[in-house]
Amino acid sequence: MGGLPDHLYTGNSELDSQHAGLFARIELFRDKTKTAGDPVEMKSFLDYLHDYTVMHFRFEENLMRELHYPATWEHEAEHQKFWREVLGLLDACAKMKYCEMCGQKVYNTVAKWLWSHIEKEDRALAEWIRLRSEWVD
Ligand SMILES: [Fe+2]
Ligand SMILES: [Fe+2]
Repeated sequence: MGGLPDHLYTGNSELDSQHAGLFARIELFRDKTKTAGDPVEMKSFLDYLHDYTVMHFRFEENLMRELHYPATWEHEAEHQKFWREVLGLLDACAKMKYCEMCGQKVYNTVAKWLWSHIEKEDRALAEWIRLRSEWVD
């Protein structure tokens, strides 16, 4: 699977592999939207993004709750904000018939959010899990 930029590695292999999977898809999607707006491609990416967001956020949120992560609430609030944005994008792109401009908007929004969320919230979570495991064992 394609690698992540160094500063986006959390050191938690499950999180890293889920993030890398998403990044690989976004890069592919960006390359496709550069050449031509393809409504089928866009629809399939948005469906993937929808499913991924549900699966990945649920994974992180379950983990945080199980471990009683102290910043669970703040982290979940960030997920909620992004989730609302994804739903807005799905709706807007459907109304705009998945035109080329939608591709750019989707790419910019998703890449920007992920970049900053992983670097900040997800890395903090992974670091906390790492420290906790040292103390628990
Ligand atoms: Fe997260
Ligand atoms: Fe994440």
